[in-house]
Amino acid sequence: MEAILDTYKTTKLEDVKVWFKAASVNDFPIDGGACVKYKGKQIAVFNFERLGKWYACQNVCPHKMEMVLSRGMIGDDKGAPKVACPLHKKTFSLENGENLNGDIDAIATYPVKIEDDLVYIGFTE
Ligand code: FES
Repeated sequence: MEAILDTYKTTKLEDVKVWFKAASVNDFPIDGGACVKYKGKQIAVFNFERLGKWYACQNVCPHKMEMVLSRGMIGDDKGAPKVACPLHKKTFSLENGENLNGDIDAIATYPVKIEDDLVYIGFTE
């Protein structure tokens, strides 16, 4: 199980080496998420239209290793964007991946950019 988590590493904007073209902006629900695949990884991508921002993180929830975060509800915690796992409602910051209502592992987050109505996710390889 830990091996799954090892494949997901938070990527900072300055460390991006590959911008993966994920899909059109229209393929993502407004104020919701969808899952895309990149090199065996499942990445949850969120169109947080209320904030005018996009976020990406690992799709696997570190609580029970379920691939579900893309189906989670997004919202905010004192102004900070978050996603709630649809299974047991653990919440994670979409900015830095921190678990906001417990002490389980943080999730990995990835930079997102939009160009010509296409969504790109940043990876180190
Ligand atoms: S599997 Fe996500 S909160 Fe339990």
